[in-house]
Order: sequence, then C-alpha cells, then structure tokens
Amino acid sequence: MFTPHQACRACGFGFRGPGGIKAGTPDNLTEVFDLGLQPLANDFVPDGAERSGYAPLKVMHCPRCTLAQLSVTVRPDILYRHYNYVTSSSETMKHHFERLADDLRLLMGGHTGTVIEVGSNDGLLLQFLSSKGFGNVCGIDPAENLAHVANTEKGVQTINGLFDVKTAAEAKSMVGTLDAIVARHVFCHVDSWEQFLNAALSVCDDHTVLCIEVPYCKDMLEKVEFDTIYHEHTSYMTIRAMKILAERMAFKLVKVIRYQIHGGALLLVLAPERSLRPVDPSVKEFLDAEEITLDTWKEFSAKAKKQIATLRSFVQTARQNGKRVAGFGASAKSTVWINACGFTRKDLETVYDNTSLKWWKLSPGTDIPVTPEGGLYVDSPDYLICFAWNFAQEIMEKPLVKKWMAEGGKFVVPVPELKVYPAP
Ligand code: TMP
Ligand code: ZN
Repeated sequence: MFTPHQACRACGFGFRGPGGIKAGTPDNLTEVFDLGLQPLANDFVPDGAERSGYAPLKVMHCPRCTLAQLSVTVRPDILYRHYNYVTSSSETMKHHFERLADDLRLLMGGHTGTVIEVGSNDGLLLQFLSSKGFGNVCGIDPAENLAHVANTEKGVQTINGLFDVKTAAEAKSMVGTLDAIVARHVFCHVDSWEQFLNAALSVCDDHTVLCIEVPYCKDMLEKVEFDTIYHEHTSYMTIRAMKILAERMAFKLVKVIRYQIHGGALLLVLAPERSLRPVDPSVKEFLDAEEITLDTWKEFSAKAKKQIATLRSFVQTARQNGKRVAGFGASAKSTVWINACGFTRKDLETVYDNTSLKWWKLSPGTDIPVTPEGGLYVDSPDYLICFAWNFAQEIMEKPLVKKWMAEGGKFVVPVPELKVYPAP
C-alpha cells in the first residue's frame, strides 16, 4: 500500500544510491511531526465496503532545502482511481479563480492564451478560463469518474491518466502552441517531481509558464493547519525548496504570488531555464521572509497537539451535557481531525457535506456517516464543528446555517483557535 520515502524530493538530500540510506545517520531527513497510523483522508466508502487501510502519517524535514515530506508514499492508484474530492464550486473558489485568471493573463503578456491543466479534476477551472476567453484548454486527471464528468458534462476535453511525457504530448497536440501549464494543488501530491518536471519541460515552448499552486508550508506552520497533513500531501512546499528543485531540473523560478485560498497558498511560476523571461523581485522578497527551522516545527507540533486536545475535550463536554454534535464539511481535513481526536458516531452524529459523491458513506477510519447539508434543517444538532474552516465565513452565511443558528445552533471553528459562533 505504501513505500518508505527517504531522500528529499526537492534537493536529493539523503540519497545514497541504489543501496538506500542507513537509518540513524546524521544526514537523514529529520522527523518533525507524527500523527501515528491514519486512514487515507478521502477513503469515504459505504458501510460494509472494504477500506484501503492505514498508513503512517509522519513528517520529515530536509535540513538542506527545508522541504517537509511524509515518511511514506501511498500508491497513487489507491489514492486517486476513484477520487471523491471535487473542486469546490464555492464563492470563495470563484473569487480565487478570478484572481488566478488575472494573474495568468498578466503572465501571458495581457493575452488569454492556451492552457493545459494537470490534475484538472472535473474541469471546473478550465471551464471558467474558457468562459473568460482563454484559448484552447485541455485537462489531464487520473480519476476516471472526474475525467468522465469533465468530458461529458462540462465540455472540457480531459485526458484520463497521470501526468507524464505521454499524456503531456497528447494534451499539447490538442492545444497547439502552449502558453501555460497550470497545476493547482496537485504538485505536492506527486511522488516523483523529476518525472513531473521532465514531462512539463517536454511540452514547454520558450515562452510557456508552468504555474504551480501549492499550499504554503509557512502558512501551515504559522496558522497550525496540521489538518492539511494527510497521505495525499506527500510534501509541504517552501520557496527555498522549489528554487533548488527548479534549478536542478532545467527550469527557473521566475515569480511568486501569495493567495489566501485553502489557508494560504503560493503560485510558483516556473519558466524553462532557456527562456528570456526575467526573474521577478517577488522571488527574493518571499525567499528572504522564509525561515523554517526545526524549532519552527517543534512549536507547530506542540500547538497542534494542544488544538487536538482542545477540540476533543470540547466535544466530550458537550456530549456529557447531553448536547448533540455534528461536523460540517467532509473535507480531507475532517478525516485528520476526526481520527486525531478519536471521534466516533457517539461523538459526532454525522458530517454534513454538499458533495453527492460522499453522501451516505462513512468518514474514513470511523462509523460517522456523511449526509447532505440539507439534513441540518431536520436534524438540528446543538453544535456544528466546521471542518471546512477555509470556507467558514461563507458557510456561516448560508441561509441553511443562518436559520439553524438563529434557532440556537452553535457553529464551532476549530482553527487557528477554537471559536464558537455566536460567542457564548
Ligand atoms: P476542501 O476544503 O478540501 O475543499 O473541502 C471542503 C468540503 O466542504 C468539501 O467536501 C465540500 C464541503 N462544503 C460543503 O459541504 N458546503 C459548503 O458550502 C462548502 C463551501 C463546502
Ligand atoms: Zn531537500
């Protein structure tokens, strides 16, 4: 189900050739955070169906380039063949797409050019870019179910497969001259960055930009977003790591843009080394402001454990007082929280979610079912724990949630510090 990961994906630190590395030697990656054995975060299955199982969830830090990475890599075919994660079509995401479209246009010199999207999910972004006048677009996604939806329902041509030299060439043949490759929240899921960047380079024209959007490790550490650590996220990106990686792989890092989406993200813009595109001052600026050390991780680890203990005791107290508690947002983050806290159906009755693919399935590692968000009208629990905290504001403004709160429901956001709305 998984293989050990020992050498740094970005800079190669710890690589000792075919024999592998010896444990305990000083130049190994350093363990900085451990959540023990955990289920796969998107392994939502119907009651009685076989589950994929458990794998260690441990983070290692590279002392040379500061990249953080998991100690194991779960086989991608297990994680992604039937993928339940559908890009949110929320208002927050729409705003983000607007911003991204503007940034892409700027990078394309004011034009709305052609785009290949890696990990295009059900085609939402490409559909949006097409509506904004971008040229030919083509998606590549390994999930059969989502590629099918993109092709048949969204009208977005999508190749079903992993991103490699072959699928890249196929996509390129569909779009022609290539202005941008976009990879949103997929790069840190990839095990072999060398393979990924080679595939990208093989279809880059001199002017093509490779726009990699990733959650930013610095934000995760500062805001203690430990729940974004799960098996799909094999790496936690730093700008330092990306710069070193790009230069190893015949690219250069030409621009860094920060976004607020998903708790803090980066758009890392790469161009082929041979391109004449100048390096934007943002690269140095953000690099200078990035300092991630073992102490940063120590502090994060202590705070994360405290957050887990706080939510656990909050829910326990509520239950002891006869209150009914449910979750909102069956995100991968919800799986991390629920299992870190050890919740079962006795603690959380259900997790509400608007993704029909997840309905009536059990939250990974537990007996807690996912149900449609409309259920909130009839179930009326006393507390809702918001596991989709990245959309907390938007969720609280939903008529459904507003009505429930007006009737006395309390909305609990567990990060950065547990907060109850309305305040007691
Ligand atoms: P994400 O943070 O990984 O995108 O997951 C957010 C989850 O929350 C996803 O499963 C969809 C769900 N969600 C709702 O159910 N209702 C909503 O209004 C929003 C914004 C998200
Ligand atoms: Zn490294």
